[in-house]
Amino acid sequence: MITIIGSGKVGGAAALFTALRKVTDEILLLDVVQGLPQGEAMDLNHMLAERGIDVNIRGSNDYSEMKGSEIVVVVAGSGRKPGMTRMDLLKINASIVKGVVENIRKFAKDSMIIPVTNPLDPIAYLTYKVSGFEKNRVFGMGNMLDLSRFVEFIHESTRYSRHSIRAMVIGEHGENMLPMPRYSTVSGIPLISILSEEKIEGIVQDTRQVAAKVIELKGATVHAPGNAISTIIEAVVRDTKQVIPVATYLDGEYDHSNVSIGVPAVIGKNGVEKVVELDLNSNEKEWFKKGIDSVKSAISNLQL
Ligand code: 2OP
Repeated sequence: MITIIGSGKVGGAAALFTALRKVTDEILLLDVVQGLPQGEAMDLNHMLAERGIDVNIRGSNDYSEMKGSEIVVVVAGSGRKPGMTRMDLLKINASIVKGVVENIRKFAKDSMIIPVTNPLDPIAYLTYKVSGFEKNRVFGMGNMLDLSRFVEFIHESTRYSRHSIRAMVIGEHGENMLPMPRYSTVSGIPLISILSEEKIEGIVQDTRQVAAKVIELKGATVHAPGNAISTIIEAVVRDTKQVIPVATYLDGEYDHSNVSIGVPAVIGKNGVEKVVELDLNSNEKEWFKKGIDSVKSAISNLQL
């Protein structure tokens, strides 16, 4: 069973994409709002019925129903509004997520947790600390979403098939995120030999800023985060060992400790099975460090 806590647009989209991947028999949608998860579950089941997919989605307001979950996704909290940065959400969402994680400890102590609530990296740290779970069992979804945007910009700039593009984004899921052109290819051909330096700098900037643009235009980002969550779930359930950037707790990797931030990791049945350490050049190290400093300054304000 997979539980998704928070049944708004992103929670609903995560349930939708996870069900379509057929990686579990049962998805539980939880929310404090009466009726919302139940209605969302009904609507999704109607869609699944027509497709003949036997994944059952349930909605509930009762945390105790998550007992036995293998994975708990935490989407609960306020989303970004136009003009806000992800960090602006820290105070309100930290206290919501703290309460949620205490319930996960109580009812799903053997699960893995995928935090999604913003600001993602400080929330992933808080989730790790408050849960008391081993670090491989807590990994936040942020850079996977950034990566889907970076891939789309590479596709739009080169017109090569999205299917041929392999890329990477690491660091803070925020103002200091670090798309990695040096580790990006089209069918093995280095991106840096395909696009000019200027063009690449443009798509790096666009990747950093495009979520704010989507929020300005339609009020929220929905499908891309919902899908990115389901990609991580699939890697765990099918034990694919896919290398996915996730916000995980660093204990010396990348020369940083006592912080959670996005890095590539091997994702399989044990969650984060290995952090992959990329060789960063001085400019990349500088951006990565800016992200670390931003996350550390946020977590110094958390009451854990
Ligand atoms: C996103 O990047 C708002 O963090 C959210 O779509």
